[in-house]
Amino acid sequence: MTESTTEKSVKIGRGNQQSEFPVLEGTIGPDVIDIRKLYSATGHFTYDPGFTSTASCRSKITYIDGEAGLLLHRGYRIEELAERSNFLETCYLILFGELPKADEYKKFVDGVTNHTMIHDQINYLFRGFRRDAHPMAVMVAVVGALSAFYYEDLDTQDPKHRLIASYRLIAKIPTIAAMAYKYSVGQPFLYPRNDLNYAENFLYMMFGVPCEPWKEKPVLSKALDTIFILHADHEQNASTSTVRLVGSTGASPYAAISAGIASLWGPAHGGANEAVVNMLEEIGTVDRIPEFLARAKDKDDPFRLMGFGHRVYKNYDPRAGVLKASADEVLDELGKGGEPKLAIARELERIALEDAYFQERKLFPNVDFYSGIILEAMGIPTKMFTAIFALARTVGWIAQWNEMIEDPEQKIGRPRQLYTGPAERSYVPLDRRG
Ligand code: CMC
Repeated sequence: MTESTTEKSVKIGRGNQQSEFPVLEGTIGPDVIDIRKLYSATGHFTYDPGFTSTASCRSKITYIDGEAGLLLHRGYRIEELAERSNFLETCYLILFGELPKADEYKKFVDGVTNHTMIHDQINYLFRGFRRDAHPMAVMVAVVGALSAFYYEDLDTQDPKHRLIASYRLIAKIPTIAAMAYKYSVGQPFLYPRNDLNYAENFLYMMFGVPCEPWKEKPVLSKALDTIFILHADHEQNASTSTVRLVGSTGASPYAAISAGIASLWGPAHGGANEAVVNMLEEIGTVDRIPEFLARAKDKDDPFRLMGFGHRVYKNYDPRAGVLKASADEVLDELGKGGEPKLAIARELERIALEDAYFQERKLFPNVDFYSGIILEAMGIPTKMFTAIFALARTVGWIAQWNEMIEDPEQKIGRPRQLYTGPAERSYVPLDRRG
């Protein structure tokens, strides 16, 4: 079941200058050429902006077949996990590689639940922010600040220390995200409630108030739990690669996750769910769809159809499939079945999928296309969407960080470059520059 060196190899170079490189084989997916010795053997680097052809690591966590629209965590299909598992069980699977037995599950849930509170001193950090600060800016800062609270005694080479850091991050991130929201609306922070499940506790900390009893909302917490599962990991995307790169220096995991949050924030990555809802709002009515499709196809217009296209999926993103089905269900339950944004999204998807431009480029809806609509229907403000993505992705980041540290082949991440600047030249004093 593990990857191995195959009998295969490839030769690079000409005549007697040829060098041979082994080909490594994974469990499934394309073989990879092991070019670690390329520079010493040939004096050449490879050039691969955006890493479209580069495997940066070995990983046992997540497998994507972008052509087939397949996403597996530790071998289990995402659709099956979304239907039959729950978020914390999926976290266990992603972190430890197997579905937990009953006692392991209980121990894990207890372990996470015991770490939901944050150090009281962190409350004061929030006061330094403007009330209208973007929650992702607050998350980057506050998660990074955790390293000031839990770093001195943290040995990243010790598995027990890494486990506690993993529990802490998975447990505290909903508390921090909810606090970022509460701060923005001027309401008091609510302490986590450990009698509630993970998603329900998050909804409570977001929407509860100290002067009213909290009414549990199982439909919403179930839908949110599914959204968490769908976002839990996605192999070596930009934010995960960021976490690995930062972690490869031996930095604090809290600093590494904070960097991952920063990387996720951009509209080409996690920020797309927010951008989708803004775009649907801008489109406004079904009859304006052709105008926006024309703009998306126009090379002189920077506008892109948000929630469409993916670096890896050249087919329907399986996560979008689950969310498309759940959007109807959730909106109906909430009495928002007639929500115009859902109608626009469905029609936009239908027209785009029939359009030659999108077909030729294999542009399909991605996870962000429907998630924003569901989150909005739940009453979650647009600015919190990416924070929720970060909350759910934390387990993936942590699992990948752990895997990287345990991998004896991993080194500090240090890509090379093709230098195109001036060759060496001499300094000219200011008064002699023409
Ligand atoms: N609308 C219109 N045209 C598009 C779009 C789009 N959403 N996405 C790609 N294209 C075109 C692009 O212009 C290019 O056309 P051409 O070959 O004529 O120059 C072609 O498709 C290939 O695009 P690319 O930018 O080279 O592809 P990429 O793999 O570098 O980018 C992407 C992937 C996700 C950044 C891009 O599809 C995009 O910007 N999508 C919109 C933003 C979005 O929904 N992001 C969420 C990604 S999924 C969640 C996550 O992973 O965080």
